[in-house]
Amino acid sequence: MVDPVVRFLLAAVACWIPVRVAAWNSTYYNPVIPGFHPDPSCIFVPEQDNTFFCASSSFNAFPGVPIHASKDIVNWRLVSNALNRPEQLPTLAITNKSTSGIWAATIRYREGTFYVLTTLVFDDQPEANSSRWDNMIFTSTDPYSSASWSQPVHFNFTGYDTSPFWDSDGTVYVTGSHPWEVTPGITQTTLDLTTGEVGATYQYIWNGTGGEAPEGPHIYWRDGYYYLMIAEGGTGLTHMETIARARDIGGPYESNPANPILTNANTSEYFQTVGHADLFRDAEGNWWGVALSTRSGPEYTVFPMGRETVLYPVTWEEGEWPVLQPVRGEMSGWQLPPTNFDVPGEGPFAEEPDYLTFSPGSTLPIHLVHWRLPINTSYAISPSGYPNTLRLLPSQLNLTAYDGNYAGPEGQTLIARRQMDTLFTYGVNMNFSPTVEEEEAGVTVFLTQNHHIDLGLVLLPYTNTSTNTTALTPCFRFRSESYIAVPPTTVTPVPSAWLNRTLHWEIKAFNLTHYSFAAGPADARSQMQTFGYGLAADVSWGFTGTLIGIYTTTNGGEGTAPAYFSEWTYVGQGQYRD
Ligand SMILES: *[C@@H]1O[C@H](CO)[C@@H](O)[C@H](O)[C@H]1NC(C)=O
Ligand SMILES: *[C@@H]1O[C@H](CO)[C@@H](O)[C@H](O)[C@H]1NC(C)=O
Ligand SMILES: *[C@@H]1O[C@H](CO)[C@@H](O)[C@H](O)[C@H]1NC(C)=O
Ligand SMILES: *[C@@H]1O[C@H](CO)[C@@H](O)[C@H](O)[C@H]1NC(C)=O
Ligand SMILES: *[C@@H]1O[C@H](CO)[C@@H](O)[C@H](O)[C@H]1NC(C)=O
Ligand SMILES: *[C@@H]1O[C@H](CO)[C@@H](O)[C@H](O)[C@H]1NC(C)=O
Ligand SMILES: *[C@@H]1O[C@H](CO)[C@@H](O)[C@H](O)[C@H]1NC(C)=O
Ligand SMILES: *[C@@H]1O[C@H](CO)[C@@H](O)[C@H](O)[C@H]1NC(C)=O
Ligand SMILES: *[C@@H]1O[C@H](CO)[C@@H](O)[C@H](O)[C@H]1NC(C)=O
Ligand SMILES: *[C@@H]1O[C@H](CO)[C@@H](O)[C@H](O)[C@H]1NC(C)=O
Ligand SMILES: *[C@@H]1O[C@H](CO)[C@@H](O)[C@H](O)[C@H]1NC(C)=O
Ligand SMILES: *[C@@H]1O[C@H](CO)[C@@H](O)[C@H](O)[C@H]1NC(C)=O
Repeated sequence: MVDPVVRFLLAAVACWIPVRVAAWNSTYYNPVIPGFHPDPSCIFVPEQDNTFFCASSSFNAFPGVPIHASKDIVNWRLVSNALNRPEQLPTLAITNKSTSGIWAATIRYREGTFYVLTTLVFDDQPEANSSRWDNMIFTSTDPYSSASWSQPVHFNFTGYDTSPFWDSDGTVYVTGSHPWEVTPGITQTTLDLTTGEVGATYQYIWNGTGGEAPEGPHIYWRDGYYYLMIAEGGTGLTHMETIARARDIGGPYESNPANPILTNANTSEYFQTVGHADLFRDAEGNWWGVALSTRSGPEYTVFPMGRETVLYPVTWEEGEWPVLQPVRGEMSGWQLPPTNFDVPGEGPFAEEPDYLTFSPGSTLPIHLVHWRLPINTSYAISPSGYPNTLRLLPSQLNLTAYDGNYAGPEGQTLIARRQMDTLFTYGVNMNFSPTVEEEEAGVTVFLTQNHHIDLGLVLLPYTNTSTNTTALTPCFRFRSESYIAVPPTTVTPVPSAWLNRTLHWEIKAFNLTHYSFAAGPADARSQMQTFGYGLAADVSWGFTGTLIGIYTTTNGGEGTAPAYFSEWTYVGQGQYRD
């Protein structure tokens, strides 16, 4: 068998398309980082071997704040997670709601150090209450290592999307978004990046062009102007990017008459919600930008992967406003650096398939995530007597937990990866023999506690209609949770010939709108049966994107049966870009 990494590289070479000869002579495809990678912030660091780095939001997913790196701007490797140890942020365990957690990060590099500023948001505090917005700074001198990311330094800022700017006199300013339900606008103060000390007062420097929720600000200094670029309109169909400039960092800021400078609002494009952007220059001096976008079309009903990272070329003449090219699936741009997969780091390239074996002595790959902080004893790789398995112990809470918003420190046993392809096949083997009613283990397409589709093996009272007797029976239960209509829950007894055998489980996104959920004996795949069809629209909502993975729960009961998972695979089978 060809090593998966080699296979991926061979596939990448086979797909390589020669660049065309023209002023804009490269062709590339969006999204450049597919799946749940919203609110991108990216930089180019010549001192780090001409490498580009991006950070994105992770909400309640842990590890969080994924850091991607690229040498060619289109092939991105997950190289570390800035938030990777529970002790960095114990309060991630107690966030309330799926819109809480880690919001937009800004990544910047200064004199050998990488800085990531981000906000932990609590949705159960009043908007105006500064305890709702926990702003913090992570630093690292080696972004290829998760362990290198520091404990955060917290700072007091009533708001979110905080972004640092180093002025020529050495003063560091932090610019962020004041809560939109109170007095929306872009506010700024000074910040000591070492101590977290902020200025005594903050000021509103610009309120945008009138769109809802001015946010995601970044400042760039160029040709004697401070350029302040922000997102407006909210992160849905009316999302857009606008820009203003001033001679002094505190303003007054003059709005670009050409605003918005980037949006797909009011278009019929498949790529919608474009905004929340950042700009950077490559080694040739050409400007590029990133933003988030949702592959939803204007219908905005089927977009399970949520807000993804897209790339576009920018022209920025001296003394002029930058011009950002509209986001499409196929793009032309500045000449790209040569295709280069020689990027160090801990994780896979975007669109690289998974072939995970959980071999003895290995650790969990860094692209697998939990929902909030994990109970670490619930996850064991190759425990004694079960080599090449991942053992999960059940949480009492199921994937919905209390009210679909809160779960709390007791945790939910879930481990999953991001869906990163429109079409894919996910497979995993499972050994699980439940002994207590409602003990359950299975596979899930999980967006949030209020939006998930599960196929589980669960012990349920089942009435055998041929004998009229009811007994606890291992069953396949297919069920969905969503704010909108879901397919009916189905319960099917596990065929007796399959009991206590290793079962193979499969989730396929076999078309844009539907997922199939199937299972069967791992050693007799011809017997695989489909137990349910989930609706992608049921997991299209909010700020995050779908995760594909495995869970175990007692559904509130007392069970403790372990589930042993093995041979985890995920293979992308196509992107729809229109
Ligand atoms: C692409 O255009 C740049 C100038 O914009 C030029 O230097 C480069 O040689 C061109 N590359 C190709 C492959 O045509
Ligand atoms: C979660 O937030 C809701 C209100 O949004 C509140 O009623 C509930 O008490 C909160 N739960 C916890 C555990 O904080
Ligand atoms: C903010 O919320 C916390 C927790 O609910 C509360 O203790 C505190 O008094 C609130 N502060 C203000 C200024 O409302
Ligand atoms: C945080 O800053 C706000 C003003 O920006 C101030 O009202 C508040 O007292 C500060 N809180 C702390 C804990 O310093
Ligand atoms: C922006 O809005 C805030 C809050 O409504 C207001 O206090 C401030 O004067 C405005 N600032 C500018 C620059 O317009
Ligand atoms: C979209 O169209 C509406 C209605 O004409 C208009 O109010 C809005 O400004 C437009 N949005 C953008 C970003 O062009
Ligand atoms: C598991 O979590 C506990 C409590 O947080 C901690 O003391 C322990 O070091 C962790 N173990 C591992 C292997 O991470
Ligand atoms: C139901 O009872 C029949 C007759 O005893 C048996 O053959 C069958 O396996 C039972 N079905 C289940 C799901 O237990
Ligand atoms: C099962 O029970 C129902 C009602 O309790 C009865 O109508 C039916 O005839 C019974 N069937 C068998 C096979 O005993
Ligand atoms: C399967 O395992 C369970 C729990 O260990 C046991 O109670 C049951 O008898 C086994 N069933 C079969 C068919 O082997
Ligand atoms: C996907 O397949 C399902 C089940 O066959 C079908 O109902 C649905 O219309 C298909 N969706 C598309 C977009 O073709
Ligand atoms: C989750 O567990 C609760 C009991 O703790 C149960 O009432 C609920 O039906 C379960 N829901 C899902 C979707 O798993």
